Amino acid sequence: MPRLPPSLFRRARSISPHVATLLPACRDLDTARRELRWIREHACSVLSRSATLRARPPTAAHSSRSPRRRKPRGEQLGHRPGTGADGRGASRGKQQGEKRAELDRLVARLCRERGAGKPLQYVLGSQPFGPLEIACGPGVLIPRAETEAWTARVAAVVGEACAAGDALTVVDLCTGTGCVALLLHALLQRPGLRIRGVDVAPRAVALARRNLAAYAGAAATPPDVAFARADVFDPAAGLAALLPLPPPAAPDAWPRVDLLVANPPYIAPRDFARDTARAVRNWEPRLALVPPPVAGETWAGRAIYARLLDIAERTRARFALFEVGGAAQAHGVVRLARRRGDVEIEIWRDWPDAQPQDGEAQAVDVDGVALPVRGSGHIRSVFIRRDGAR
Ligand SMILES: C[S@@+](CC[C@H](N)C(=O)[O-])C[C@H]1O[C@@H](n2cnc3c(N)ncnc32)[C@H](O)[C@@H]1O
Repeated sequence: MPRLPPSLFRRARSISPHVATLLPACRDLDTARRELRWIREHACSVLSRSATLRARPPTAAHSSRSPRRRKPRGEQLGHRPGTGADGRGASRGKQQGEKRAELDRLVARLCRERGAGKPLQYVLGSQPFGPLEIACGPGVLIPRAETEAWTARVAAVVGEACAAGDALTVVDLCTGTGCVALLLHALLQRPGLRIRGVDVAPRAVALARRNLAAYAGAAATPPDVAFARADVFDPAAGLAALLPLPPPAAPDAWPRVDLLVANPPYIAPRDFARDTARAVRNWEPRLALVPPPVAGETWAGRAIYARLLDIAERTRARFALFEVGGAAQAHGVVRLARRRGDVEIEIWRDWPDAQPQDGEAQAVDVDGVALPVRGSGHIRSVFIRRDGAR
């Protein structure tokens, strides 16, 4: 990464010392100014929330959180001018000064963290994901815009294919923050919608549950969504852990699932070291990005996709969607899926609802069979429809 010129730092300092602190991470003045605005607004809302928490019982403050709308970033601390030279006015003035100093200290600390490379979402503590505000924290992957795009598309396809009254069971394997599971719930809303998300990382499951609590707090009726800890590779984890659903009648049978989705770790170790941004390498969990090495594996992620397809087959999933890291991996998943039976497959790009740009093919040949390729951008996911699922 090229070094920034000293003249840029001088200009940044002339705007605000915080802009200069943010510059190494933001790389240009406009971005630094924008992020400073967000950080200030976040700091204001943190302090006004903690003031509210001090004044009210904790439960009331918690249930007032709405995940559906980004909290207005312009929320200000309640500064009111002093009303005169009497004792009350002076003490109010002192309180305001203390509040302002507390705010300045918090903004300075958050800017230092961000300037040192901490991802903005970890600094602000959340990331919008469709209409939801998803809580984020170190140790759990930050939801990506491309993931949001396929989640919206898959909800539209499944919603269209199923009658409004159909009960639906959805499973999100490798759920992380729970962003995909919760957005699917928000978009597929219907009676009888049941969603389960699992992840091997206890921190991810704890954060997904926190996101669920915020989502449920704003919902009219309690959502039938649950998150559990399980390793998709671990047969000993048992069905109940992997798919925390009511057991089917036959003891060994797998529960039936309508839609199975997964954004598994899929980056090859060499690509992780060579191609990922420094902020990703330094801050986001490797477990979320790099699949475990498996002896004899011909391409990174083969074992985890094979396992996900195995689960899709056992649960007779009518629809499945797996995020992938490019064309080679997508073709690998297509080959694995075809070996498991008669399925219809589409490959989706980053923005599956966008018009393809010049040079973006709308079909691809995999082993002599043409497959549709939807949208624009990099190859991002493989969508599988089992025969008859229309
Ligand atoms: C790429 S992240 C996806 C997170 C989230 N679904 C999203 O799209 O933002 C992959 C997730 O898979 C989880 N994971 C990795 N190996 C796993 C395994 N063997 N079983 C279950 N989850 C696993 C990681 O902890 C991580 O949260």
